[in-house]
Amino acid sequence: MKTRTVNVALGGRSYAITIKRGLLDETGPLIKALGFKGRAAIVSNPVVFGLYGERAIKGLKEAGLEAVTIIVPDGEGHKSLKEVSSIYDALIEHKMERSSPIIALGGGVIGDMAGFAAATFLRGVPYIQVPTTLLSQVDSSVGGKTGVNHPKGKNLIGAFYQPRAVFIDPEVLKTLDAREVRAGMAEVVKYGVIRDKGFFEFLERTSGKLLGLGAEIEEAIERSCRIKAQIVGKDETEAGLRSILNFGHTFGHAIEALAGYGSYRHGEAVSIGMVMAANLSASLGLCGLSIGERVKGLLDSMGLPADPPQIPPESFMESMMLDKKVKGGRIRFVLTEDIGKVMLKEVKEEELRAFLEGFGAKRKT
Ligand code: NAD
Ligand code: GLY
Repeated sequence: MKTRTVNVALGGRSYAITIKRGLLDETGPLIKALGFKGRAAIVSNPVVFGLYGERAIKGLKEAGLEAVTIIVPDGEGHKSLKEVSSIYDALIEHKMERSSPIIALGGGVIGDMAGFAAATFLRGVPYIQVPTTLLSQVDSSVGGKTGVNHPKGKNLIGAFYQPRAVFIDPEVLKTLDAREVRAGMAEVVKYGVIRDKGFFEFLERTSGKLLGLGAEIEEAIERSCRIKAQIVGKDETEAGLRSILNFGHTFGHAIEALAGYGSYRHGEAVSIGMVMAANLSASLGLCGLSIGERVKGLLDSMGLPADPPQIPPESFMESMMLDKKVKGGRIRFVLTEDIGKVMLKEVKEEELRAFLEGFGAKRKT
């Protein structure tokens, strides 16, 4: 099996992302090779641990490491300070030390929460990401955004804290629900739109094979991670460039909230949001309408939604004006100039309203 490696270059906090089918069985020796010994805590949930926990523990044992298991309940609703506190309790109970690594085995919920526990326990202990959903393999495990939700909003509490390594085994995606695979694909498409036309064309050529998790998925994961690593390497804390990773997310977040959380997977809402952002770009004269059509075509071929639900423009406006990117009645959007080329631009409230009203009118025809 081919091993692919992507480096996240952040000086003394640099780390490698390793991608290989079957890598799960090698994580023990790889963690040992990073210099860890003694105990390692695996943080996971019952679903993922039930599927992959035994193999992860076996690998650690074979490498001479003692595995401590910490299981938290499954689901976004449990990405909370309460569960982080239960992780601290278990770490203390098992006498984990400053040098003992935490291994996040799961999707983005586990990765974000275990990463935040690692950032804060004993003022910071090392952690390793073993992401098991497509979204976490191409996005959340890379770049060091860790955190939990607050009852008032998603991801309001957190820290930038980079992992020591990311181990990606594309084979584990075979047990993932097909809808979750498609939702993850939205973030893969995002990388093509924001940064790499050649990658976008690769996705157009291979979308069917990607959904079937053929060999092409490894290349898609590697190229996605490479793009994210390059952006994070230039702007770790989202002072500027990193915000292009939010392409489609302003509309997407509003759709998620207005349709009721749970109606859309995050990736599905982002899928619709990306088409809207491309169309907004066209309405502002930054590109032609063909860009939105091409993005929509690729998303369609991946079974992702591209049309927004019937939401009155005023509700859209209200929801987006609550966004943390609003300043003085203007929202900063990531807008398309071409496939592979985006820009950050503040859009005035009236421009946005005019777009939403025109867009709604067009949808009714
Ligand atoms: P998730 O972690 O909830 O996983 C989705 C579901 O799949 C869960 O039920 C999980 O138990 C299950 N699962 C995971 N791996 C599986 C496997 N291999 N086989 C079968 N089932 C499996 O959801 P997600 O989409 O991975 O992550 C969403 C979270 O990621 C959100 O909380 C979001 O805020 C966060 N996120 C963070 C970043 C970041 O930069 N840190 C970026 C994007 C998203
Ligand atoms: N998912 C957006 C980021 O990591 O910045």
